[in-house]
Amino acid sequence: MRTETIVILSQRELDKMRKAGHLAAKLLQHLEPLVKPGVSTLELNDEAERWTLAHGAKSAPLGYKGFPKSICTSVNEVICHGIPNAKQILKDGDIINIDVTPIVDGYHGDTSKTFLVGNPSPKVKKLVEVTEECLRRGIAEVKPGAKIGDIGAAIQEYAEAEGFSVVRDFVGHGISNIFHTAPDIPHYGTRGKGKRLRPGMVFTIEPMINEGTWEVEVLSDKWTAVTRDRKLSAQFEHTIAVTEDGVEILTQAEGD
Ligand code: MF3
Ligand code: CO
Ligand code: CO
Repeated sequence: MRTETIVILSQRELDKMRKAGHLAAKLLQHLEPLVKPGVSTLELNDEAERWTLAHGAKSAPLGYKGFPKSICTSVNEVICHGIPNAKQILKDGDIINIDVTPIVDGYHGDTSKTFLVGNPSPKVKKLVEVTEECLRRGIAEVKPGAKIGDIGAAIQEYAEAEGFSVVRDFVGHGISNIFHTAPDIPHYGTRGKGKRLRPGMVFTIEPMINEGTWEVEVLSDKWTAVTRDRKLSAQFEHTIAVTEDGVEILTQAEGD
């Protein structure tokens, strides 16, 4: 539980969040064509870092609580916080979540997608499609007066109906000039429970959906979170704002 108070952003702050969000979305678009069999996760990291600096931004993950790289690259059974590595070469049939968070003018745009490497099996593709739909359904719950529990409930109902499980140990989070702040946004839960959503709240929704158990193990590097049963995990993330009449996705490229 985060105990800080939930902030309501001003129009000026929302403008900054929009700029950071646009850049984050464009960075994922820029990296997408590089995701091919044979590329290393370090090459993806290094291109992300170069592009981020070239656009006048900084990579929030680099040095965050000691995280050593600029993006997270989470392959197959890695749930999140995978560390880019020169020895990790993508191969046909893999899936990889790339999670980016550029800081623009002090504000954070946090977004991730799971990409298919080459041509994974239909079963793997289904996990990825269901996970993206989980994010869509979570976002669709967001409007003033709704409760935080409505988001998790919508995600959990759909994921479990499709035969998958929802990770408990990592949740969405408030975000602004601070990377991770109140409120927590669980991707499981009960409709009608939790804090009420109000215009100007900004947070991420970032469901991690597993093929098998939802249980997590963190490797000895203290970062890489994997599924306990080593079955696959997928994730999609957007940073969103609650508006007067619903929701705005901040991590979208202009014109998308
Ligand atoms: N971007 C991740 C999130 O969605 C956080 C990464 S923290 C890091 O919240 F230190 F691993 F980079
Ligand atoms: Co993220
Ligand atoms: Co996040």
